[in-house]
Amino acid sequence: MKILVLNGPNINMLGIREPGIYGNNSFSDLLALLEKTGQELDITVEQYQSNHEGCLVDKIQDAYGQFDGIVINPAAYTHTSIAILDALKAVSIPAVEVHISDVDNREPFRQISYPGLACCKTIKGHGLEGYREAIEYLYQMLNHKI
Ligand code: DQA
Repeated sequence: MKILVLNGPNINMLGIREPGIYGNNSFSDLLALLEKTGQELDITVEQYQSNHEGCLVDKIQDAYGQFDGIVINPAAYTHTSIAILDALKAVSIPAVEVHISDVDNREPFRQISYPGLACCKTIKGHGLEGYREAIEYLYQMLNHKI
């Protein structure tokens, strides 16, 4: 099983950016968590982060026929990107949306998620653990356990 984890703009700044909202863990900590989760489940977990919308769209398109599931934190593109929504719909790969912070209890402009419309589940406000939950959810779903 191959899972692609996609992270949008400024996720590489974890640990530096707004620790009161996103916590003190660094981007390297996130990469370590993803690697550990992959090892524990004995699956391939690949991570890609970009600050550029088109690069994320390219990566989703490239995932077609290559990955069984996508975990995506589109970051600020969550609230603007119909292009990422369309790319997820185009490839039809089961996708789970993750937000580190609890976007429901933040500014009104964070209440809309375009990519989320193409995702089978959204995990919000669970910090970095949300990524592990998302991978485990896809793992179980793809193994027909949910
Ligand atoms: C975020 C929430 C977004 O609103 C924000 O723009 C981000 C991170 C989160 O993980 O909580 O960059 O996706």
